[in-house]
Amino acid sequence: MPDAKGATHLDIADDTVAKVQHALLSWFEAAGRRLPWRGATDAYAILVSEVMLQQTQVDRVIPAYHAFLRRFPTFESLAEAPTADVIREWAGMGYNRRALNLQRAAQAVVERHGGELPADPGALRALPGVGEYTANALACFALGQQTAVVDTNVRRVLGRVFHWPSTPSEREAAETARRVLPKGEAWAWNQALMDLGATVCTSRRPTCLLCPLRELCPASGAFEAEPAAIAEGRGAYRPKTERFEGSSRFYRGRVVAHLRGLAAGESCGVDDLGAALKADYSDADATWLRALLEGLARDGLVALHGEGDGARVSLP
Ligand code: ADE
Repeated sequence: MPDAKGATHLDIADDTVAKVQHALLSWFEAAGRRLPWRGATDAYAILVSEVMLQQTQVDRVIPAYHAFLRRFPTFESLAEAPTADVIREWAGMGYNRRALNLQRAAQAVVERHGGELPADPGALRALPGVGEYTANALACFALGQQTAVVDTNVRRVLGRVFHWPSTPSEREAAETARRVLPKGEAWAWNQALMDLGATVCTSRRPTCLLCPLRELCPASGAFEAEPAAIAEGRGAYRPKTERFEGSSRFYRGRVVAHLRGLAAGESCGVDDLGAALKADYSDADATWLRALLEGLARDGLVALHGEGDGARVSLP
């Protein structure tokens, strides 16, 4: 309930918190996923995994993570690489700007922090591509700090266990996450919450019968009594999905994918690129394509050479 200052005081009994902590940590020890970055102690590898996991599912990240680390094993090797190589290595992951930001973050670590991931939260947040979530994940997973980490899955799990039947705001979820963080166990606890949210306490079809928190969770009865109570179809924790095909992001991705197919250093004519993107590409599309390419060039994802009919485009 909010007080005069707008702060919320959650009435969670210490005893309930202790039971939830024990049940979830025991479950994680026995059933947690053995993901490759969980064995990593190298802060660089953990940064790579967290940036990849920002918008890509675990199954797709696993092979890409291994390949990326083979190609760029250290902050220094990534910082020094030709940007075109980094973009090529990001193939299949989508959201290519993450690849650029990851390289810029590696450059910042090398140039500003002597090659070590900084431990200060402000310095972490200042790294390109590192927002609130990723900064907290790095503080905990890469630097061993006792920090609460809240992503969509964690917010949903904490919401069901501690706020049901309401949905906590991001701020409330962050406050709850800090309140229930078990002393000295932040690493396992945060990973456990993520695993539970990804595999059991899912958005649409939670499998409460398999949940280690079933006896402690007020939402579990609701789902068992009436599966339609999965009222989060209302979209409580889901970003709005927009049509992807034909969107500007769709075509940006296709431009970069086409340029990846060229030999190193090779460029292609803008009209040839247009024809490769759209079967019915015509002169009427030239202004649209130019604007798309200028946006990509501003972001640093492509290099544009020349204007008009002779204009050519390549990876940077
Ligand atoms: N998503 C973001 N970080 C993760 C992690 N460490 N394990 C599983 N999923 C994640």
